[in-house]
Amino acid sequence: MAARQRMPTPAVPGERNRQWLLEKRPDGPVGPANFRRAESDVPVPGPGQMLVRNLWYSFEPTQRLLMAYYDPGEGDSSGVALGGVMTSIAVSEVLTSHLAGFVPGDLVHGHTGWEDYSVVTGKGFLPTYKLPDGMPPNLALGALGLTGLVAYFGVVEVGRAQAGETFVISGGAGGVGSVAVQLAKILGLRVVAVAGTREKLDWLRDDARVDGVINYRTEDVATRLGELCPDGIDLFFDNDGGAVLDAALDRLRQRGRVVLCGATSRYAADPRPPGPMNYLQLVMINGRMEGLLGRDYVPRREEAWAAMRPWIASGQLRPKEDVLQGFDRLPEGIGRLYDGANVGKQLLRLRDPSVVPA
Ligand SMILES: NC(=O)c1ccc[n+]([C@@H]2O[C@H](COP(=O)([O-])OP(=O)(O)OC[C@H]3O[C@@H](n4cnc5c(N)ncnc54)[C@H](OP(=O)(O)O)[C@@H]3O)[C@@H](O)[C@H]2O)c1
Repeated sequence: MAARQRMPTPAVPGERNRQWLLEKRPDGPVGPANFRRAESDVPVPGPGQMLVRNLWYSFEPTQRLLMAYYDPGEGDSSGVALGGVMTSIAVSEVLTSHLAGFVPGDLVHGHTGWEDYSVVTGKGFLPTYKLPDGMPPNLALGALGLTGLVAYFGVVEVGRAQAGETFVISGGAGGVGSVAVQLAKILGLRVVAVAGTREKLDWLRDDARVDGVINYRTEDVATRLGELCPDGIDLFFDNDGGAVLDAALDRLRQRGRVVLCGATSRYAADPRPPGPMNYLQLVMINGRMEGLLGRDYVPRREEAWAAMRPWIASGQLRPKEDVLQGFDRLPEGIGRLYDGANVGKQLLRLRDPSVVPA
């Protein structure tokens, strides 16, 4: 029997659209002071557009870069204009669609705004896609979203992880890190995770069951890597960049690999610090350092889902999420990534999908 179309509750006539606008570009910490509340009419989609109601939001450290920079000439990567609606990856429900392939009731993953209702084209830096039936929005943004895709393809494909190898990661208890450490354990690697708070280290040790933890804020990372990886590192997965990357480069063993996922320590630094000091170690060990851009792996998402969904269902992979609730708290989400408050994937639940029987 064909699945019955899920019908969303329409926007109420006269309803206002709450928004968070970018008020001030970041200069130091990011958070509520950078944003201003506003309201608009519920927007009306034109040809080639659809109206969505936003449900769940994802927060990424690179949103700070979008707040800091605006060049309308750069199209998809143009940043956010001062006074413009802050942008974000979200899961939304389609209310009205003039876009082929999308109908009211679809739950979609894409780029939208910090507002109740957005008009989207489905195109751009991160094209919109439909969630498979039954995939919860939080998982679609976290372990099975862009976050999980970079963790999966970073560990498995770019990192070429092999059982028995030593795996070290920075940002080990963040969104990407919390998935990557568990994947590396599932694949039989020895995992040492670097993070910046006691709470994160406790989660890594007690829940993710990694083999060693390092607090880069209170411990000497090079010394601790020497103690925890006496035979060197086979694979270093870098989320944070900076001094931890240098220390890891120094301990890479023959044919060692570095996966460049991100460099959170650099995003807020002004002026931008010089690159890694110890990169010549790659010559000495015939090593490799390679980046990956999650957006480019979106067309292969079903491959990653096919591997990860059974691990999630069996409890081998336990997504770690840090969920804020409510529209008022959106500006807090980005701040939490920079003060290190989040443990696991930082999300915000605005509302759950509405279901009206057809
Ligand atoms: N390549 C891609 O397509 C792609 C896709 C998604 C994410 N990423 C990147 O992956 C990295 C992790 O992203 P995520 O979403 O999972 O974020 P996250 O790790 O959940 O959150 C950011 C974490 O960065 C750490 N941090 C904050 N300021 C720092 C600083 N000055 N120096 C060092 N660490 C700092 C904090 O952890 P501690 O308390 O441990 O310091 C914080 O919890 C980011 O660099 C992001 O840009 C890349």
